Parts: sequence; structure tokens; C-alpha cells
Amino acid sequence: MNSIWGNSEDLKNFKTLKGDLRTDVLIIGGGITGVLLAHKLQEFGVQYALVEADRVCNGVTRNTTAKITSQHSLIYSKILKEYGLEKAKLYYNSNQEALNEFRVKCNEIDCDFVEQDSFVYSLNRTDKINEELEALDKIGAEFEYIKSVSLPFTIAGAIKFKKQAQFNPLKFVSNIINNLNIYENTKILGFDGEAFVTDKGRIFSNKTVVATHFPIFNKFGLYFLKLYQERSYVLALKEAKTVGGMYIDENPTGLSFRNYKDMLLLGGGSHRTGKEGGNWHELTKIKNQFYPLSKEEARWATQDCMSLDGIPYIGEYSKVAPNIYVATGFNKWGMTSSMVASNLLCDLIMGVANEYSELYLPSRKILHPQLFNNIVENTLNLITPTTPRCPHLGCALKWNNAEKSWECPCHGSRFNEDGNLLDNPATADLKIKHRNQ
Ligand code: FES
Repeated sequence: MNSIWGNSEDLKNFKTLKGDLRTDVLIIGGGITGVLLAHKLQEFGVQYALVEADRVCNGVTRNTTAKITSQHSLIYSKILKEYGLEKAKLYYNSNQEALNEFRVKCNEIDCDFVEQDSFVYSLNRTDKINEELEALDKIGAEFEYIKSVSLPFTIAGAIKFKKQAQFNPLKFVSNIINNLNIYENTKILGFDGEAFVTDKGRIFSNKTVVATHFPIFNKFGLYFLKLYQERSYVLALKEAKTVGGMYIDENPTGLSFRNYKDMLLLGGGSHRTGKEGGNWHELTKIKNQFYPLSKEEARWATQDCMSLDGIPYIGEYSKVAPNIYVATGFNKWGMTSSMVASNLLCDLIMGVANEYSELYLPSRKILHPQLFNNIVENTLNLITPTTPRCPHLGCALKWNNAEKSWECPCHGSRFNEDGNLLDNPATADLKIKHRNQ
């Protein structure tokens, strides 16, 4: 079930930590966010070390559909309603800047970067599309209303953002990673009051960035209430009609489309990790209905951290944890969000003012309907008496038959059939080694 982007074996091997280490900045987590931040700190001559428990970019970065866009479904009407015009503008500008930065960087390297128009469509909610159009108008975004698109079904309407982009994320990373100071196969086990403890030695740092997809430290920041995770699925199809752009349904359980070379990447089947959902089964039905002559080239799944209000958490980990920073909750928009995060964190580390810091502040208000959902889900799964239990905070795990994995509905940790950890925030394997049949 590997994605089409290749795997970490295509990337350079990095050293493993041997003994204690002192560094100005420690970056925990070697996904694209950590790598971009390391790249920037290196350019500015800041001393840093990036540590990764496994191989770099072996998680979500390898499984994204790699759309680089400031069009994040219907986010602008949501932000406008919740936080007002200025914040909506800031969100747009920060993501446009991220898109442009990718454009400039990708121009110099071979990473299959292609400019594409991006579309958010609705099958039946003209009201939602209209609301987003009004919001985009107010913030001064560049957009176009479209009545029909090159998808194999009828839509109620769509919004187009011109000149967005797509690329191969692993090819991109392989071009910027070689000279970075990275330690692989070095797992952070905790903080002992002075240093971060790994399985290979202690790391003393002045500033630390937690870029582990879902933050792994529970003591501060309430991330176990502020985030949940979603799984979604992709089929790469050959001999399917080209769609000529990047598409997403405004309905969170709808479909997404983009092409890569001669393949169509059909995405969807989303569900909260640990809950029932459409998975590949639903995508196969769509393939049979609309692309009956196509051939499946690959299938894979990915996992996204969902914030309470649709905006990522980037900045200080918690008000009571000085000099520790975080980047998480990218929802389904990891590429531009990772670039935004690397810029913002780089400024925070270097003490430079950044106009986006308040928008992405992790300690902003948490009273949103999704908080209530998360509390209910956490409580229900904590009191469910079944085994196995999640080593993160003890919730009852659920079996995902499509992926043959144990999944936690509380915060989305995952384990394979043998109990080996697949996805955090858990940092340990399951105690049992085999699934109870
Ligand atoms: Fe938190 Fe399972 S991921 S309890």
C-alpha cells in the first residue's frame, strides 16, 4: 500500500545519535515541516539538529496528494464568520506567500512541479458556495465562479483559484535535504527537566520545535482535546480521463481529484480515525461507476490532524512551556501549511516579528462545537471496557479491517496487527502482540 511518490529509501540515509548533544534549536520530527524549518535555519546560520524516530518523510509527507494551494475547501467564509475580515485576509496572504515560495524553490529543482487551477465544488449546496464567494470577494482574493467542471458528474457550482500547483513531495524533499543536520532512528522518549531524552542519548537545547504531526507531549497545550485525526484514501488510476485541475468537494466526506503524469489520483472515503468510513471500498465503487476501464496502479491512505476551527496551530506549544514551539493541525492542507509553519517558526526562533503569529496562535480560544465532539469521543472510548487499550491515554482501540490496523478514535494513534506503532501521538507499541479474534 505504498503511495506513488516513492519512499524514504529514495532519500539519503542520515546518522543516528550516539551519546549526548547540545544544540541551539532542536526540531523533533522529520516530516516536510521539520525539513523546511531545518533548511531555513541552516540558511540563516542558526545551529540546529533535527531528530526523527524513524526515517525522514516516512509518514504523512509520503502519503499526501501534494496539492499546493491557498484554496482550502470553504475556509474563508468560516474564518470570516468566526474571526472577522482581517484574519481571513491574513490566512489568504500567508498561504499565497507559501504557494509563491514553493513556486520559486521548485523552479530550480526537478520535483514534477506543475501549475494547476484549483477548484472547490459542491454537489448540492449552492448556499455554501455563495457564502464562500462573498467571503473571497471581501478579502480581495482572486477567484472565479464556475458552473460546470471536467468531472464525470453534475455539480451545483464551483470556485476556481487560478495558478495553484501540484508536485511530487518526496522529489522536492530529496532536493533540499542532503546537507541538513539530521539524526534518524533517534526516538524522543520524554523530557527529564533538563534535556530531551532519546533512546541514544540526551539532547540539550535552548529552543525546541515539536513537528511530530500530532504533538507527543500531553502535559501542556491540551492537544488531546484540540485535535483529532482523520484517515482518507487514495486510488491512483491509469487510463482514466484527465481532469485538468485539482478538485475537492466541500463536503468533508466527498471526493478529491488531481492528475499526476498519466494517472488520476482519486481521493475520498474519509472518516475519523478509529470510526467506520468509506475507505477504498467507496473509491472502488466510484472507479467502477465513472472510470470502469481504468486500471488501479496504487492505493494508499493518509492521516490528517484536524484542528477545532480549521486553522493550524503554529507557535508557542503552551503559555507555560517557554521556548517550545509546535506546528500541527494542518487539516487536509499540509503542503502550504508546512511552508507557513516553517516561516513563522523560523521568525519566532530568531525573535523576528511575524504578522501571522496571532492568527495561528496555538493558545487561541477553544470553545468550538468540535471541542464538544472531541470530549464526547474521548469520554466514550475511555469508558468502553474492551481491549486492547491505547498506550497514549488509555482509550479502547478499534479494528480497521480495510487497513488491518488497530486505531484509536480518541486522538488517532494506529498500530499494525502485531502491535507495532504506525501513527502517533502514542510513542510506544501495543503491549499485546496479536489481535484478539
Ligand atoms: Fe490518545 Fe489513543 S491516541 S488515547
